[in-house]
Amino acid sequence: MISISIIQFAPKFAHTISNIETIHAYLDSVQSDIIVFPELATSGYFFTDSHSLAPHAMEWNKHKDLLELQKRASTEKRIIVLGFPELTNEGIYNSAGIFMPKAQESKVYRKTHLFYKEKYCFLPGNTGFFTVYEQNMDIRLGIMICYDWRFPESARTLALQGADAIICPANLVTTLSGKVFPARAIENKVYMIVANRTGIEHNAEEELLFRGESAIYDYSGDILAKASLEHEEVLYAMISPEKSRVKSFNSENDIFLDRRPDMYA
Ligand code: ACM
Repeated sequence: MISISIIQFAPKFAHTISNIETIHAYLDSVQSDIIVFPELATSGYFFTDSHSLAPHAMEWNKHKDLLELQKRASTEKRIIVLGFPELTNEGIYNSAGIFMPKAQESKVYRKTHLFYKEKYCFLPGNTGFFTVYEQNMDIRLGIMICYDWRFPESARTLALQGADAIICPANLVTTLSGKVFPARAIENKVYMIVANRTGIEHNAEEELLFRGESAIYDYSGDILAKASLEHEEVLYAMISPEKSRVKSFNSENDIFLDRRPDMYA
């Protein structure tokens, strides 16, 4: 079995140094094999233009704070997932780093479906959905970010690629998604790991309330761990990746083999 933790906290808006300190403090105190932080955990969320976001954006495989997280994943032999604004030559992506124990297996996912004023700040992600496999833990993980939940294709694509668990760093502002994640778990028979944040951010015109309720769902859609709406919390659960791989539920039915893609066009 693999231990997994979600860190639900309220990143401080535009305070990268302080957020990185918080992230390291949690890494010091939480021992799980896999540890997941929310979307844009290093920067905070409610930027409305790429100019003000740019100083907080980090280059994958280059920025010292990301290299430090890779070092920890490698020396501590665990997987760290967190959201950050990713600086590239073409612009900024809303990304999640998946820091694997073997650095060469680490990857960055760029959010496919941009939400609300993210469209003013970020480029639409161009990595597509992919999975990573960690041999010692024998687990295959798929990654999506927050609003990707609205599109069942996100979880389906990852599940068809063999994901045992789908990790979703999030900054959710609606409770609707809580109805959807269990369904994605059931229809794909995968664990769903939703790492949301808490707190409020505002600009001159409006306020966003982040609705916590991070959760770890098993492959039957049942809740293994769930956080409160407003408190900073660490969630913990044990998961059995191999159990999610059996997609049949009786002698005649298998939810993947029974699919009829030729009927879906
Ligand atoms: C969201 O995609 N952060 C709601």
